[in-house]
Amino acid sequence: MDPKGQKLKLNDGHFIPVLGFGTYAPPEVAKRDALEFTPFAIEVGFRHIDCAHAYQNEEQIGQAIRSKIADGTVKREDIFCTSKLWCTSFQPELVQPALEKSLKSLQLDYVDLYIMHYPLALKPGEELYPKDENGKLIADSVDLCCTWEALEKCKDAGLAKSIGVSNFNHKQLEKILNKPGLKYKPVCNQVECHPYLNQRKLLDFCKSHDIVLVAYSALGSQRVKEWVNLNHPILLEDPVLSAIAQKHKKTPALVALRYQIQRGVVVLAKGNNKEWIKENMQVFDFELTPEDMKAIDGLDRNIRYCDFQLGVGHPEFPFSEEY
Ligand SMILES: NC(=O)c1ccc[n+]([C@@H]2O[C@H](COP(=O)([O-])OP(=O)(O)OC[C@H]3O[C@@H](n4cnc5c(N)ncnc54)[C@H](OP(=O)(O)O)[C@@H]3O)[C@@H](O)[C@H]2O)c1
Repeated sequence: MDPKGQKLKLNDGHFIPVLGFGTYAPPEVAKRDALEFTPFAIEVGFRHIDCAHAYQNEEQIGQAIRSKIADGTVKREDIFCTSKLWCTSFQPELVQPALEKSLKSLQLDYVDLYIMHYPLALKPGEELYPKDENGKLIADSVDLCCTWEALEKCKDAGLAKSIGVSNFNHKQLEKILNKPGLKYKPVCNQVECHPYLNQRKLLDFCKSHDIVLVAYSALGSQRVKEWVNLNHPILLEDPVLSAIAQKHKKTPALVALRYQIQRGVVVLAKGNNKEWIKENMQVFDFELTPEDMKAIDGLDRNIRYCDFQLGVGHPEFPFSEEY
């Protein structure tokens, strides 16, 4: 941790801001939201921006970052920008071109972090979700370790300062860690993580290998019906989170974000309104007590909002493992 408690050191020596701004939005609003909210997030103090090719809004985020550099709010080196390699570009020869495409959209020379979005190689092509006649995703037979080696080359080429993974279970992480001739360990594993799915075992595993866990859907997800089982309870209405929030004169959202930072997890927060984006920066203004942390630990109930049902049946589907 840096002295201000706002950055964590990665296993390759770079630092990652512990609070990140999420940029996923449903496709019909993704571009508009990115243009409207990314500059605002930078203005109020967000320095870590979580993007992905699959979100189809990297161009708008690039414009937003450029505008905030141009008006003197930030310098390039103040911003920590992540992008994600989509699963249709897992063939090693497709990796660097995919990153270069993201860099062009983002108007950047390098990303701070490039991660494999899911451990699920899919048939290459323009379609993000290539499907067969039965609506099943068409897998590609690339070994994840071969894709990883291509990411290592991107780091060596200076196109990504750090490289990591997302949605990997511990066995898939082990596969990379045990790869003969491994040059760089993943610096992070970005996974769904919140009080209802606190990922204790995966977090312990990651910590034991000096891999940072990055939490997405830390506020209980955007409950986009295509991706989320809407029968799951709404996290931010949880009475324990509400009581702790009241005690600290904060909100359940801030408690959910603070919880992750205090357990050494980097946390992403999406905000679709300016009040919330501004509010989420208050995560650095208070501290949860050990009793609060214990009470929140007690809320764990294995609720995965983003269970990626579409990927069930893929040989590398990650969520069938306990962790
Ligand atoms: N690697 C992956 O596979 C993966 C998967 C999912 C997400 N992610 C990343 O993680 C980011 C965040 O996750 P997420 O998009 O699922 O959403 P999230 O951070 O869990 O946020 C969910 C919703 O919480 C609400 N919210 C935000 N701040 C609030 C506050 N202060 N008080 C009350 N409500 C508040 C917003 O609701 P409204 O929508 O109603 O405004 C927001 O959309 C994504 O944008 C993306 O960058 C990555």
